[in-house]
Amino acid sequence: MEAQLVEAEKLASSGRVVASVAHEINNPLEGITNYLQLLLENMSEDDEKRKYAELVMEGIYRIAGIVRRLLEANLNIMEEKGDHDINHHIQNVVSLLQGKLAQNNITVNQFLDNNLPQIRCHPNQLEQVFTNLILNSIDAMPYGGIINIVTQMENEHLLISFTDNGYGIPDQDLPKIFEPFFSTKKGTGSGLGLWICYNIITEHAGRIDVKSKRNAGTTIQITLPL
Ligand SMILES: Nc1ncnc2c1ncn2[C@@H]1O[C@H](COP(=O)(O)OP(=O)(O)OP(=O)(O)O)[C@@H](O)[C@H]1O
Ligand SMILES: [Mg+2]
Repeated sequence: MEAQLVEAEKLASSGRVVASVAHEINNPLEGITNYLQLLLENMSEDDEKRKYAELVMEGIYRIAGIVRRLLEANLNIMEEKGDHDINHHIQNVVSLLQGKLAQNNITVNQFLDNNLPQIRCHPNQLEQVFTNLILNSIDAMPYGGIINIVTQMENEHLLISFTDNGYGIPDQDLPKIFEPFFSTKKGTGSGLGLWICYNIITEHAGRIDVKSKRNAGTTIQITLPL
């Protein structure tokens, strides 16, 4: 128990360091972006220096994306744990993402066990996990599809699974998907989404597993202790 507490404290303090570094990077980054934007606006379309400025801008957008992710990941680190209804937080996330889901022709089916006990957790952090998983499923189904979300109890544990029928994950990528910065979405993904999920779930003494079949779909299953 004591060791666990020390671990949690260490995590919280390293989270604070990451959050403050990310915050400090963010301020000058905004200035750089604005000035670069001004430079670009004042360059003629055929100025040959323009492509260098655009490449710099692309790099800055990439840095800004990573910084934003790190800030988001650590935003809720100080939140107190409490007893919460997980189904309610899944429903919250699905309704927040409803517009994006509809735009992408994706149907979400929620098979939520109505008799779940409350779980001791950081609800905002778990909402962040659910959001990341749904966003990954959306990316994996560019022509639309289905996401099934299931909650159930099994042997004093809560199981939460997200299954999509998207393009799946190649076997050779499976061991890497929870690593920071692993992404197959060239230029658009920071590769931090699942790493953040892994950290949040581990911090809840839970586990997160993946099963996937190429061109058939992916299931991410979270197991949380009561
Ligand atoms: N549901 C899924 N279907 C197919 N591939 C997936 C799925 N979820 C994750 N992946 C693969 O795992 C990789 C890592 O996912 P992760 O969420 O960490 O990063 P990302 O989505 O690429 O970028 P970010 O979430 O930081 O914007 C993805 O690039 C993708 O290749
Ligand atoms: Mg992602």
